[in-house]
Amino acid sequence: MKKRSINNWAGGCIAVAAFFVLPARSWQSAPPPQTVPPPSPRAALSPDATLSRVAFGSCARQDRPQPIWDAIGHDRPELFLMIGDNIYGDSDDMNVLRAKYAQLEAVEGFRRLTESCPLLATWDDHDYGKNDAGADFAMRAESQQAFLDFLRVAPTSPRRTREGVYDAVAVGPAGRRVQIILLDTRYFRSPLKRGDPAPAGSGRPGPYAADDDPAATILGEAQWRWLDEQLRTDADVRIVASSIQLVAGEQQYEKWMNFPREWARLYGLIRARGAKGVIVISGDRHSAELSCHRPAARPAGADDEPPYPIYDLTSSALNQNRGWQNEVNPHRIGAVYFEPNYGLISIDWTTADAALTLEIRSVEGKPLIRHDLRLSELR
Ligand SMILES: [Fe+2]
Repeated sequence: MKKRSINNWAGGCIAVAAFFVLPARSWQSAPPPQTVPPPSPRAALSPDATLSRVAFGSCARQDRPQPIWDAIGHDRPELFLMIGDNIYGDSDDMNVLRAKYAQLEAVEGFRRLTESCPLLATWDDHDYGKNDAGADFAMRAESQQAFLDFLRVAPTSPRRTREGVYDAVAVGPAGRRVQIILLDTRYFRSPLKRGDPAPAGSGRPGPYAADDDPAATILGEAQWRWLDEQLRTDADVRIVASSIQLVAGEQQYEKWMNFPREWARLYGLIRARGAKGVIVISGDRHSAELSCHRPAARPAGADDEPPYPIYDLTSSALNQNRGWQNEVNPHRIGAVYFEPNYGLISIDWTTADAALTLEIRSVEGKPLIRHDLRLSELR
């Protein structure tokens, strides 16, 4: 069992403190001193915790109000996962990125939540540093350290020296064991292929097309090997956080289906390792929906078939929402929502076949999407 604490926040304190003492350009132009609260303590995740409520979200603009933290806190999750675009960093200047993390850290609701609820995270493009970026982002190594400082990962952690921010944690006793797998869909990702019609010269991202090149990757070989090991370990429920959508394949922006070989490889790996209990969570889209890819009655074990129903619960945005947009998704269950939201996975372990509830909730904590299933469906 991998033990870890996310309460080692010395590195983060240094980083945050460093930001607040960054010199102004000159004493004449220094802004008036601001009252900035010191870094708050963060809750630690116990390896013995039996998780029954895991909340998550994505797309939090650090310079806009973030009232959603209170609704999340009201649900009393035992773990909160930030799964990308946790800030809108969008810079190759690490001082800018660190300043924006500090802005998020100073949000009262975020502080309150993370003082009582452990936080784990992965990143997406905007906190990575550049819209829709992949391995070609020149500051990826530096950005990784800023991200790990924000998460208060110890300077001695192996996460400091390996490339990418992927991570996994498993907690709880046998029979009620929850594994959290946080994928890094940025650090190693091959360049995106422009779709047709590409907005020539517009500089705008997307639409993107599927890249069938065998060399094209999302996770990169090192992360694939690591994921293979993770899926061999024992767990009853595996929450797999991917910043981008896995199941929704029709939308033209970032998604696993831009790399269909990688998408099939993930299904194939879950099948080959007999990894039961996988639930995927995703973000990035500024909308929320629940997708489910059910195996068809076609030849069992086909590469593009999931081994069992794969749910992909997309929650976006915590506060960086957008207007309504019509999008086809044949795998969608129910409606799509564009108002600020967060995701909530509840597990009732008291029944012989654990009962799971997948939800998207509004800024008032109101359920927008709700789907019930039994754990035996995921095997
Ligand atoms: Fe994104």
